[in-house]
Amino acid sequence: MTTARVPYRFGTLVGSSGVMRAVFGLAEKAAKIDLPTLISGETGTGKDMLAREIHQRSRRAGKPFVALNTGVISKELMVSELFGHVKGAFTGATEHKAGRFLEADGGTLFLDEINTMDEAVQVALLRVLETGAFRPVGAHTDEHSDVRIIAATNTDLRDAVDAGEFRADLFHRFSVLYIPLPALRERSEDIRTLIDVFLADINAEFDLHITGFGPGVLESLQCYPWTGNVRELKNTLAQACIMAEKGDITLEYLPARVRDAQASASPKEASVFEFGSDGSETQAVTVKEGVFMPLGASLEEAQRTYVLRTLDFCGNNKTRAAKMLGVSRKTLYDRLGKWGQGHSAKRD
Ligand SMILES: Nc1ncnc2c1ncn2[C@@H]1O[C@H](COP(=O)(O)OP(=O)(O)O)[C@@H](O)[C@H]1O
Ligand SMILES: [Mg+2]
Repeated sequence: MTTARVPYRFGTLVGSSGVMRAVFGLAEKAAKIDLPTLISGETGTGKDMLAREIHQRSRRAGKPFVALNTGVISKELMVSELFGHVKGAFTGATEHKAGRFLEADGGTLFLDEINTMDEAVQVALLRVLETGAFRPVGAHTDEHSDVRIIAATNTDLRDAVDAGEFRADLFHRFSVLYIPLPALRERSEDIRTLIDVFLADINAEFDLHITGFGPGVLESLQCYPWTGNVRELKNTLAQACIMAEKGDITLEYLPARVRDAQASASPKEASVFEFGSDGSETQAVTVKEGVFMPLGASLEEAQRTYVLRTLDFCGNNKTRAAKMLGVSRKTLYDRLGKWGQGHSAKRD
């Protein structure tokens, strides 16, 4: 079983993988440096949360944080939504309306799904980024505002630039501070950390008394690919806790899709040779034990886990372990020495 490492935190965000540590380092810089920032990541990876935390830690913290999902607003309304309009600018514009740029003045404007933004809006955005000036729809003069933009995209914006769908100049303006949030399946060390944090939160929020996890549950949660990322993990856990109410969460409380992930990833049976006490091969036996290895572990980590588990399985008998691993005893000793396990490498 993998155990959680000491978590890293960035406000309410947690993680224990090296890659999230790097993300938090970048976010720390983004909080200090008042420049446009781009966050990319699949849905549920924490883009919103990260943008809010950056704002909270920036010099703009006391000012508004305004969020706008550009993906759900029609092209026609987008300019007026961002920059406002004057009365009578178009049918239905019965009042003068301030746009999000004025609303966010002094603060941060979070533009989500920026990859869906229309060319005309991109041009206007570039202008406001460069000069602070923008023109409300139907107005004859410019207005100004002091806004820091944090943009988010759930696709690789470089692909959109290559395809001619996103302006390269706007992309470069944004990508000075670029924070890519990796998918949860690419940083499975974080799963255990997030589970522990969410479990405590869920118990407190819903006044539940979940104590832990029954057999196979953590393995299933580790193996499932989490296409909905942290959001899906959090919701799945909340649902299981609410159903179970107290005691351990057992497999039955997990959705079938998550349970099945473990079944398909369970270790295969393997035939290995049993050895007599003198080291001679006596018979083939079937081993059903295996090693759980989360995706995201480095090859070196995976090898170390596998070798140490094999050694453990062989009762620390190096001759048997080397045979099972298909390497010489010398190779095994060399590896153990390299991993700082040399002291336990007693000759046998
Ligand atoms: N690193 C993290 N630590 C704790 N909670 C997280 C983390 N990343 C995401 N979450 C949680 O996952 C959910 C989705 O996050 P959100 O910021 O809305 O993702 P996105 O905007 O990328 O779709 C939220 O409930 C958020 O609290
Ligand atoms: Mg979001």
